[in-house]
Amino acid sequence: MDHFLYRDGELFAEDVAVADIAAQVGTPFYCYSTATLTRHFQLFNEALEGTDHLVCYAMKAASNQAILKTLAALGAGMDVVSGGEYARAKAAGVPGDRIVFSGVGKTAAEIRAALDGGIRQFNVESEPELRVISQIASAMGATAPVTIRVNPDVDAKTHAKIATGKSENKFGIPIAKARAVYAEAASLPGIEVIGIDVHIGSQLTQLEPYEQAYQKVAELTEQLRADGHNIRRLDLGGGLGIPYTRSNEAPPLPMDYGALVKRTLGHLGCELEIEPGRLIAGNAGILVSEVIYVKDGVGRTFLILDAAMNDLIRPAMYDAHHEIVPVKEAEPGVEMAPYDIVGPVCESGDTFAKGRVMPPLQAGDLVAFRSAGAYGAVMSSEYNTRPLVPEVLVNGDQFAVIRARPSFDEIINRDTIPAWL
Ligand code: LLP
Repeated sequence: MDHFLYRDGELFAEDVAVADIAAQVGTPFYCYSTATLTRHFQLFNEALEGTDHLVCYAMKAASNQAILKTLAALGAGMDVVSGGEYARAKAAGVPGDRIVFSGVGKTAAEIRAALDGGIRQFNVESEPELRVISQIASAMGATAPVTIRVNPDVDAKTHAKIATGKSENKFGIPIAKARAVYAEAASLPGIEVIGIDVHIGSQLTQLEPYEQAYQKVAELTEQLRADGHNIRRLDLGGGLGIPYTRSNEAPPLPMDYGALVKRTLGHLGCELEIEPGRLIAGNAGILVSEVIYVKDGVGRTFLILDAAMNDLIRPAMYDAHHEIVPVKEAEPGVEMAPYDIVGPVCESGDTFAKGRVMPPLQAGDLVAFRSAGAYGAVMSSEYNTRPLVPEVLVNGDQFAVIRARPSFDEIINRDTIPAWL
């Protein structure tokens, strides 16, 4: 459920007409709903009710300061994967003891910054990383809390580019090696082993891969405890998928996921963490764009929008489907027609949809890409010197620009000219 609904034939974001935002901000822009962000965050809290848990929002999905502050105020922790994300979390007021640090390539500088500013735990992904954390923490006279990310070799049954839990993926340490790595971790200075981490992929639409992975984690917990490790926290990753189409997809609900977590891991008495990103932000955001031209091609009609692959890369990168709806609702019974929906960037890959059946549209009409809140604005670029797409946050009947569109001068003046030119 989200809060982008038609009222009297006009698309609203909560209590604000999307067309009114477009008139003030210009297109294209991302628009997020506070109510939807809040609801999705709370769904996870409710799903894990009765357990000692922390929902650490995977801020890579959408990391605007206003979004982070909205979630932090609800008690969210943050899952960060870079020094930049760590700084963003801190800037949004998230205390270090609610920030977990994931990622295969944490640099020494990033590790130092996190130890300095406070960290709930590092999710360690390799032996070399473990040793570097040990060295840095020891030199600082600090103790680094760590979980070790295990790769359970489970097929997450999702797009290959976002599956992370198979042995061919770069993530985690093979679960078969876990006992040896934990033994090394326990012997290293500056390291405190507190638990286990697992994340098998993103946009999972079935619970079965989670079940397989979590059962392996449960077994490993018992083995490691028998080896003498005080395993008291389990980080279960994120990845729960969202429906991108209205009709044929019904991914599992957070409540069912929560029941699975409790069933597979509840008996261990561990503190639980989860790292959802997409399910919190995905359907809480839309990308709004204007039709520039309707162009007749050979055997097809192109709808040329002012949004492009640099603003929303998911269709080009993962063949992702996003529903595209007119901001002014089509009259009932109007004749629909197929369109190839494209952006202005000079690549054929700048195609959002082919043969998408839409009501008739003309230049100047507004359309909205649904389910664009996660991995939308954060993956945007200024390719073709198209200004970074702005972001707007709605809350009830109010809205605010939370990232402004840069001017051409701002873009150009970021470049610097060497003395010889
Ligand atoms: N935890 C870790 C360690 C992760 O790597 C990720 C996502 C998450 C949590 C959050 O997963 P989520 O709940 O959002 O599925 N750009 C791609 C998705 C990449 C996901 C990367 N890792 C897309 O647009 O589909």
